[in-house]
Amino acid sequence: MNASLPPAVMLAGVSKSYGERCILDDLSLTISAGERVALLGESGSGKSTLLNLIAGLEPVDAGRIEVAGTDVSRLDADGAARLRRHAIGFVFQAFHLLPHLNAVQNVAVPLLLSGERAASAQARSAALLTRVGLGARLDARPRELSGGEQQRVALARALINEPALVLADEPTGNLDPATAGQALALIAELVAASGAALLLVTHSEQAAAIAERRLRLGPYGLSEQ
Ligand SMILES: Nc1ncnc2c1ncn2[C@@H]1O[C@H](COP(=O)(O)OP(=O)(O)OP(=O)(O)O)[C@@H](O)[C@H]1O
Ligand SMILES: [Mg+2]
Repeated sequence: MNASLPPAVMLAGVSKSYGERCILDDLSLTISAGERVALLGESGSGKSTLLNLIAGLEPVDAGRIEVAGTDVSRLDADGAARLRRHAIGFVFQAFHLLPHLNAVQNVAVPLLLSGERAASAQARSAALLTRVGLGARLDARPRELSGGEQQRVALARALINEPALVLADEPTGNLDPATAGQALALIAELVAASGAALLLVTHSEQAAAIAERRLRLGPYGLSEQ
């Protein structure tokens, strides 16, 4: 944690409904810079919805969200996209790699979108892939990689822009326990080394163990565990 930086995430009185159904009601939460938080909760409790709100992918109905000091709720679509590019890294259960790009090209995408030149974007991406143990698979397409390898590519892509916040939605849900354990150790190591905060949605105790704080989302909102 770094007290001189703004919180990685600040939610104040956030509510969200889909149609008549209230999914999130008056949530407040602060995640400090560099803090690692696990978010647990039943299926359908609104965990992914909360990540989408934080990332500015969905508008809030009420309340305010700041990410690394930027008020997400006031951004237009372009502003939210820019914030995601420079402040947020995503890791998903289903990896979401681009199938026609090789590992280096997948990791380089956020850098290219931020205007970095191709040669240096590829060099930085190759260096980070080497760090996650994929130095020999730089040219492999996602379909040529195992699930654990694909998740390491996705993790490198999430961290290549040195985001203040990593949002991970069940990142090990598609991996066997041993591979999941390796992926979790790598997430913990890279997130700590980069100083990013982590909000990790998970059903797994094994995954929650890499966090220093645990929250549960239930029908009465967020509670510390
Ligand atoms: N775009 C949408 N339109 C309407 N309803 C939605 C939409 N997105 C989510 N919901 C509903 O909101 C509720 C919360 O969904 P969400 O995906 O956030 O749950 P979750 O906690 O991530 O669940 P899981 O653990 O199964 O991933 C669900 O009942 C879902 O059907
Ligand atoms: Mg979900």
